[in-house]
Amino acid sequence: MKRILPLLAGMALLLSACGRSDLSALDPQGPIAQRQYDLMKISISIMTLVVVVVFAICIYVLIKFRRRKGDKTIPKQVEGNHKLEIIWTVVPLILLLILGVPTIQSVFGMAKDYSKDKDAIQVKVTSHLYWWEFEYPQLGVTTAQELVVPTGKKISFELVSADVKHSFWIPSIGGKMDTNPGMSNRMYLEFPKEGVYRGKCAELCGPSHALMDFKAKSVSPASFDKWVAAMKAPAVMPADAHIAETFRSKCLACHAVGDQGTNGAPNLTGIGGRQTVAGILYNSDVVKDPQSEDKTVEENLKTWITNPQKVKPGNQMPSAADNQLTQDEIDGIAKYLAGYKLDY
Ligand code: CUA
Repeated sequence: MKRILPLLAGMALLLSACGRSDLSALDPQGPIAQRQYDLMKISISIMTLVVVVVFAICIYVLIKFRRRKGDKTIPKQVEGNHKLEIIWTVVPLILLLILGVPTIQSVFGMAKDYSKDKDAIQVKVTSHLYWWEFEYPQLGVTTAQELVVPTGKKISFELVSADVKHSFWIPSIGGKMDTNPGMSNRMYLEFPKEGVYRGKCAELCGPSHALMDFKAKSVSPASFDKWVAAMKAPAVMPADAHIAETFRSKCLACHAVGDQGTNGAPNLTGIGGRQTVAGILYNSDVVKDPQSEDKTVEENLKTWITNPQKVKPGNQMPSAADNQLTQDEIDGIAKYLAGYKLDY
């Protein structure tokens, strides 16, 4: 018991993080996640039933037919019992049918293709080491790290990878589906409620796999239209001429702002209003995350720009030293990006 206690305490601590409705598959926030959760419940109930019945019979037999003191006789040897054999063939068959019918129904239902549906929102997801790109081909908009979707619509995803294999997963909404280089997978999700849900990479992809988070933000259809318009508006550049020039030559070589899509690194339009910098540094002036330090967008941007490898080992972003940025330039760029918010 002394050895088991710390283990139990550790498990409790680990599982306590699973109660978050923005992250837990056990607290579904949409119809797809709900169906997946229902399937889990059916299979766990059946498994529990089987374990309980088998163990009960086993324990009963062990006690009832144990060798008693002084008993030297050999029990009657029985081989083949028609009745029993039929029972233990038919019962598992019935259990498998109870499990199989809804599973197959759900699996085929969830694989429905909405890529040609005019009413669905199409999103092309491209995974990169270690960030997520979201392109809306119908709307001509590309963003990164924060997927924005309207409530009440089918969101039809095309999933690809720019490098290695990752997996796209929003636990409380549904999923998951691999993103592979050179081929696309498809799935759809629905967001009935407004909210911000945490997304995760669910395929071991490198040293920062566990840090490859993103956000899925569902907003009202009116807000979504506003967001699209704001994304397509001309880029806002730094007011200071020197910072603007530095930003253009150093950052925009890979990043993009405004409606320019992407140059291989995350599109930064509206980054000041996102919940996180780099997907994992929570901005306390946007959202309070109980498990994160109290740092503002501007502070997090400085941390990230100064030494990205310290935050997310193995990522592609060069450090400020590699980029030959002075402290004034780091501060100026962080301040500008922190102030780059979209109204929607
Ligand atoms: Cu990307 Cu794990």
